[in-house]
Amino acid sequence: MTLLNQNYLKLPGSYLFSEIAKKVAAFKAAHPDKSVISLGIGDVSAPLAPAVVEALQKASLEMGSADTFRGYGPEQGYAFLREAILQNDYTARGINLSADEIFVSDGAKSDVANFQELFSPSCVVAVQNPVYPVYVDTNVMAGRTGPFANGAFAGLVYLPCTQQNAFTPDLPHTRADLVYLCSPNNPTGAALTREQLTRWVNWAKANHAVILFDSAYEAFISQPDVPHSIYEIPGAQEVAVEFRSFSKTAGFTGTRCAYTVVPKALQVQDDAGQNYSLNALWLRRQTTKFNGVPYIVQRAAEAVYSPAGKAQTRQAVQTYMQNAQVILSALQNAGLTAYGGVNAPYIWLKTPNGLDSWAFFDKLLSEACVVGTPGVGFGACGEGFFRLTAFNTPQLTQQAAGRIAALTF
Ligand code: MLT
Repeated sequence: MTLLNQNYLKLPGSYLFSEIAKKVAAFKAAHPDKSVISLGIGDVSAPLAPAVVEALQKASLEMGSADTFRGYGPEQGYAFLREAILQNDYTARGINLSADEIFVSDGAKSDVANFQELFSPSCVVAVQNPVYPVYVDTNVMAGRTGPFANGAFAGLVYLPCTQQNAFTPDLPHTRADLVYLCSPNNPTGAALTREQLTRWVNWAKANHAVILFDSAYEAFISQPDVPHSIYEIPGAQEVAVEFRSFSKTAGFTGTRCAYTVVPKALQVQDDAGQNYSLNALWLRRQTTKFNGVPYIVQRAAEAVYSPAGKAQTRQAVQTYMQNAQVILSALQNAGLTAYGGVNAPYIWLKTPNGLDSWAFFDKLLSEACVVGTPGVGFGACGEGFFRLTAFNTPQLTQQAAGRIAALTF
């Protein structure tokens, strides 16, 4: 008899953003006359940079010509892109890595979801709370948790990120083998300082733990004491994997390109105490299960690092961060308490008058026709909070901010 992987039955019925999309579609169907503005899912609005489009066109023409056509590429990415990433994102910051420690992929979401396969089902996983749901759900699917009850999966270590600790997690008080850290953070917008990240790296070393460091939002960092890469911290190459993406940095949410850094210095033991390189195992996994990112997309990603590409993508990031300021001021004018928006394109607001996150979602949608994301959707510590993104256009962000400021709470 064919049996299910029953771990799937522990999951909530649908993925957070699908659930919201369903509710918004129902609202639009019921109110076809209303213009709904989304500050919900973190999807970009600016088009691809001209330098990127030019690279896409050029690479497409190459694919249409017999002498420059390419079939399967290397699963881990073409050398031209891995070198560009290495030089621009690491060597330029004084980080000593090599191109074969960089794995190009179709998204940080899939990499962050898949990477846990390399670890034993018995590993204890720690996550921030609130948390990007993919870290949790994929470990549930893999059987690393018990059932869900009272807002938590049994067996998972939750690291509360609250107003009291400025949304930065304290070190675990109990055993944790794998820790997911997201900085700048989705959803709270908080970012770990050099000192805080150093404490994490030292803790991981002392506890033989691995940090899965999601820095998809590093391009939005504005404060100098916030590291862009965990490898800016001495010793981090022995304990951390880093996930990066072109999605938010360069508007690739629909184009799909990201990368994961797995340093060769990162070793994990089997149950006989023998060390293995995660770099070699991730290569084994990717070459078996992944066919690589399309050549034309990798050329487009390479163009992000050209002088014109850098200037154009930086401009888009600055525009989003100006949107963040517009949202923050509107919330302050409405008398709401809000966080984030300084090193991240996310604003995390405290819902007023004890409204719960979903009640605030309903109020914002029905009274202002603005979509956001209920904080509780990211975990129990998100209850009473709400996330807005800065990724819409300046014009629609201004409009949404005006509608929010006009609400009475
Ligand atoms: C979000 O809104 O949290 C992000 O768009 C999710 C993602 O990047 O997958």
